[in-house]
Amino acid sequence: MADYVKRLLLFGPPGAGKGTQAANVAGRLGIKHVDTGSMIRENMDQGTPLGLEARSYVERGELVPNDVIIRLIDDRLNRDDVASGWLLDGFPRSLDQARALSEMGPDNSEPVERVIFLEVPEEVLVKRLSGRRICSKCKGVFNIATLPPDEKDLCPLCGGELITRPDDNPEAIRNRFRVYRESTEPIGEYYENRGLLVRVDGTGEIEEVTDRVMNACKAD
Ligand code: AP5
Repeated sequence: MADYVKRLLLFGPPGAGKGTQAANVAGRLGIKHVDTGSMIRENMDQGTPLGLEARSYVERGELVPNDVIIRLIDDRLNRDDVASGWLLDGFPRSLDQARALSEMGPDNSEPVERVIFLEVPEEVLVKRLSGRRICSKCKGVFNIATLPPDEKDLCPLCGGELITRPDDNPEAIRNRFRVYRESTEPIGEYYENRGLLVRVDGTGEIEEVTDRVMNACKAD
């Protein structure tokens, strides 16, 4: 098997397929998928102090404050289970977060080896987000466009109830695109200047995109 980078991040607009691809790629590389959106939603479901603080931001499509999220990631990347590698999805989402991450390696070094930018046109993103359903039990992610017509309410993996994410309503989606353009998009240039950015076409079949991302993760 070819050599692959082991500390990477996947970034792109809401609905680009970050979660879908991160799960596939982390599985193929045998590294941990670290997803801030899911970590926050888990805290919200459990009613932890972090979840209670985050709820109003997430439901409006706004970013959760930096101090909360940077602490969460710093702690997560220092656990033993990520020693063999990690794939970050959902972090960083602003230049401040990117700068904080750039000092999280040993002796305050840049820990990121590669940044994959998933490019998808906005009209495709809106369609994907409005059709997304998640399983309330196993948290699997699906889309009404690909679920069998008579099984759109139950998870094909565990039979749990399929629900719409609270921030997948038209107003929150619009806001998430605005926040993405204003705060997150600039990190592309930040990583391009550091020679870490690779652009990948995120359209087409899921497996086809996974192959492209894997190709972009080969070590130099
Ligand atoms: P987060 O959960 O990270 O949301 P997001 O960035 O808006 O991304 P999404 O999860 O909506 O999309 P995705 O790119 O993962 O797409 P997916 O694979 O699901 O964050 C949510 C909120 O948490 C934020 O708004 C913020 O409040 C807070 N937050 C998180 N991180 C934060 C941070 N660092 N700082 C501050 N706040 C933070 O795919 C979408 C749909 O398309 C699915 O239905 C999927 O099945 C389908 N699909 C995927 N790929 C394909 C394909 N190739 N073809 C057809 N359909 C596809």
